[in-house]
Amino acid sequence: MMQVKHLNKAYGNKQVLKDVSVEFPAGQTTVLIGPSGSGKSTILRSLNLLVTPDNGTFDFNDHHVDFSQPISRKEMLEIRKDTGMVFQEYNLFPNKTVLGNVIEGPTQVLKQDKATAIKNAHEWLKKSWFG
Ligand SMILES: Nc1ncnc2c1ncn2[C@@H]1O[C@H](COP(=O)(O)OP(=O)(O)OP(=O)(O)O)[C@@H](O)[C@H]1O
Ligand SMILES: [Mg+2]
Repeated sequence: MMQVKHLNKAYGNKQVLKDVSVEFPAGQTTVLIGPSGSGKSTILRSLNLLVTPDNGTFDFNDHHVDFSQPISRKEMLEIRKDTGMVFQEYNLFPNKTVLGNVIEGPTQVLKQDKATAIKNAHEWLKKSWFG
């Protein structure tokens, strides 16, 4: 289960998230719907700690984050290992192959050995459009 409570985020004087509380139950798919610019991506980035809300809390597995306090690097890395997002734009590494892009996270972040990462990548790619 993933839950955020009372998130606020402003860019300059533009308040993008205003007291947003939302729960994402485990094993379910939750859909965020809203007009362009309403803050959907900002919420997703907050769950991945790519954006730090000004305040509010985030509960995820055994983690409890209070965004008004500094987040330790250790906790940040642990949370990022178990979260991910697909960006609206591709944001791939242009100097790498498709396979190189797919194994980057598993080898660099999860420290998988390259052979395992490549084997898994081929299995995922078979399920994808590229398979
Ligand atoms: N880094 C930033 N600096 C300044 N303003 C930003 C930044 N990121 C987002 N914003 C602004 O915050 C608001 C919310 O943006 P966000 O990308 O979360 O919206 P969204 O709901 O995902 O929109 P879309 O449906 O177009 O993807 C927008 O007004 C956007 O211009
Ligand atoms: Mg968006």
